[in-house]
Amino acid sequence: MEEFIVTPYEVKGEVDYEALIEKFGTSRITEELIGRIKKHTKDIHFMLRRKIFYSHRDLDWILDEYEKGNAFYLYTGRGPSGPVHLGHLMPWIFTKWLQDKFKVKLIFQMTDDEKFLFKHDLTLDQTNRYAYENALDVIALGFDKDKTEIIVDTEYIHNLYRIALMVAKKINFSLVKAVFGFNQSTNVGLLFFTSMQSAPAFLESYRKKKKVPCLIPCAIDQDPHFRITRDVAPSLGFPKPALIHCKFFPSLAGADKMSASVPSSSIYTTDTVEVARKKVMNAFTGGKPTVKEQREEGGNPRICAVFNYLAYFFEEDDKKLLEREKMCLAGELLCGECKNYLADKIARFLEDHQKKREKAKNVLEEFIVRDCDSK
Ligand code: TRP
Repeated sequence: MEEFIVTPYEVKGEVDYEALIEKFGTSRITEELIGRIKKHTKDIHFMLRRKIFYSHRDLDWILDEYEKGNAFYLYTGRGPSGPVHLGHLMPWIFTKWLQDKFKVKLIFQMTDDEKFLFKHDLTLDQTNRYAYENALDVIALGFDKDKTEIIVDTEYIHNLYRIALMVAKKINFSLVKAVFGFNQSTNVGLLFFTSMQSAPAFLESYRKKKKVPCLIPCAIDQDPHFRITRDVAPSLGFPKPALIHCKFFPSLAGADKMSASVPSSSIYTTDTVEVARKKVMNAFTGGKPTVKEQREEGGNPRICAVFNYLAYFFEEDDKKLLEREKMCLAGELLCGECKNYLADKIARFLEDHQKKREKAKNVLEEFIVRDCDSK
């Protein structure tokens, strides 16, 4: 097995998701746990059914508390370093489903501070502007405005800083160095940053002065931050946040993590339908070099970006997905047909999303909460 690395700051190599569960010490989402969720949600989101959300920490405890009448709140976030692409939407769509089903509050953190610290070429003004741009994509997904708060770190800093300080006092240099792979030239802002990402996990308990359970849906690469959050929680008198982790959205280029820094490997929510279609047409597939070979030997959907886009996002119908997989394996389907099928679905999604994103501009301020002046 080839070496791979997964931290919030670096994802490298081919990710073995099962090995990550062992390495991080998280728990697998079992059929039994899905059954428990279904008691409350009635149906099961395809991202759970397909084990795209596949790992967790203390999700059973969240359900115990919920069943006792102690509802949790959701917390997730975004590092605003550029425009949003489809991969970013995936966990947010799932978060919205959780909000709808459990009728719970969501705190959404925009870490303009983090991306300023982490990206050499971005100013704080730029990351702050992206926070607002990206918030439009969040709102466009349909989150309940009475149950959703979007906080931009530099503008909700009064409360976050107090909590972050409590967390920071419990974390030492050797810990963050070991967890994140920091070295002597890492800027000191990043050494502190885990405290900032921890703060919203305690925010409701801090505000309400009682223990409010928190559930964090996120991609598995964010787990190292929250391992630390969970470790310090008891000594601060806060409950440990629970987590539900997803795998990475496929890249059109075929690698495992969709990289926003290679524009052709991802589709932005603001791409025109034509640009998106072109990207799909150039995607990496599991096809054979010639039609003859593909007809005889079949394609390989497992490694195919087009198939994975359908599985992770665009084909909710299990039967249709399975049928497509079978036909591909049997050589009955050529890549061009699949690409067109996906491109049409993406086009419909983008047209709809872009309309909603425009409308979101009118309600943006109703979602943002601040405890100090915006610039
Ligand atoms: N650090 C995350 C990123 O780079 C952003 C983030 C902040 C986040 N808080 C979160 C992600 C909570 C998931 C859950 O994208």
